[in-house]
Amino acid sequence: MNKRYEELYSLSLRRGFIWPSAEIYGGLAGFYDYGPLGSMLKRNWENSWLNYFLGLGDNYFLIDSSNIMPHSSLKASGHVELFSDFLVKCKKCGESYKADDLLGEVTGTSGEGLKAEELDKKITEANVKCLKCGNGFNAATEFNMMFPMSIGSEGQDKGYLRPETAQGVYLNFKRGFEVARKKLPFGLAIVGRAYRNEISPRQGVYRMRELIQAELQIFFDPTKFDKTLDFENIANYPLRVQFHDDPQIKELRCEELIAKKELPKYYVYHMAMVQKYYLEQLQYPLERFRLLELGENERAFYNKIHYDIEVNLESLGGFKELGGIHYRTDYDLSRHQEGSKERMEVTFEGEKIIPHVLELSFGIDRNLWSLIDVFYEKTDRAVLRLPAVLAPFTAGVFPLVTKNGLDVKAKKLYVALRDYHNVFYDESGSIGRRYARMDEIGTPFCITVDFDSMKDDTVTIRERDSTLQKRVPIPKLESLLRELIIKKKPFTEL
Ligand code: GAP
Repeated sequence: MNKRYEELYSLSLRRGFIWPSAEIYGGLAGFYDYGPLGSMLKRNWENSWLNYFLGLGDNYFLIDSSNIMPHSSLKASGHVELFSDFLVKCKKCGESYKADDLLGEVTGTSGEGLKAEELDKKITEANVKCLKCGNGFNAATEFNMMFPMSIGSEGQDKGYLRPETAQGVYLNFKRGFEVARKKLPFGLAIVGRAYRNEISPRQGVYRMRELIQAELQIFFDPTKFDKTLDFENIANYPLRVQFHDDPQIKELRCEELIAKKELPKYYVYHMAMVQKYYLEQLQYPLERFRLLELGENERAFYNKIHYDIEVNLESLGGFKELGGIHYRTDYDLSRHQEGSKERMEVTFEGEKIIPHVLELSFGIDRNLWSLIDVFYEKTDRAVLRLPAVLAPFTAGVFPLVTKNGLDVKAKKLYVALRDYHNVFYDESGSIGRRYARMDEIGTPFCITVDFDSMKDDTVTIRERDSTLQKRVPIPKLESLLRELIIKKKPFTEL
């Protein structure tokens, strides 16, 4: 791991974002827990994601599903047969590696999408050896990544922990469609955990065995979806894309991309919506974002069109996948119709159709890590410049000193604000140290009760990014905070 990763991981442990699971027992590779700040950041990210992506349609809803799924359902979906990675094992020490990642790590060129024999050949040609003991490898074998389980006292029922939240939606599609307005497009999202027995989770929080996903499955009729979208609005919007056979990132207008790659309008429309989410809602810098096309051999077995959502992360050595835009056709519902013998066909505008699926899929753990990577800087001061709406605490509330009733007034203010905002009360250490502590965890505003507050019922409010301070009346504070955070009013206009 590089220096930047160490810096961010240390921040994460020290301030309580994320840390290893079962740490007091030595931890378990690929499992992490969220501390108080991490949990708040996660909740805020999930709320922001839900607001934005469920807002893309008027018939899109959140559901939840069981994490354990019957064997029959994952056999039908293709995961029992195909949800696998290639594993290579050291001949001497037995250390296991995900073959394509190992190739990528050692040679700089990922082996994603290669077959077993191709991986073996490349590993031999590049003289890749075990990172632990320096010996050679056995031939690559396929390894299914699902966690199997036996259910019931005799273990009579076979099941798996779900490998993607998407499957929870497909199993609920029939009922979901019935209880909604029976029209297409129709969206169902799940925000929850998925489980993958990753071969060698050695990239810290990037490759976990218990991960959290936010996935929206949009069910649609491919002959009618375009008409429901305001494509004109984004026709000239420039997308930052990279094609699978071209090392350069390009900026192409949505219309140009459609013409160049013969992509459906509805697909490109959602690429634009995803890019806007990162650049406009979350304020990621343009140059750190790209949508990466996956070639035919690199796509998951269920995808016909696939662009990964990637952000350049210094701590992980370059562009990394945070999510994907997947056109899964009618593959999933057709497979479940076959496996369950339940009809997945719906009647819409007089026609019978098995809906197609466009999946907007995001890994929450990776997205949270990316926020810390993109927005944390340590120069003359340490600041986590998180978008205000995601910050674990909206504001810190401090008395300048704990005498003459300043602390009583500050505490009263803190309790009043707590009904509306997640605020943090702090009276320990100098005011400068308290500001510094808030800056480092991304708190966008700090409110200080001082001697003047006792006379005129005003406080100072300090902005994290500029360190500017303004004087505001206490009765207006709550609504001002809302304007700053939700309406993104510039601090200078306060
Ligand atoms: N439903 C589609 C699906 O699951 P995926 O590309 O396998 O597609 C979606 O996973 C996202 O989940 C990824 O883009 C990534 O952000 C996250 N993800 C996948 N495997 C992960 C892992 N082992 N650890 C952390 N996040 C992971």
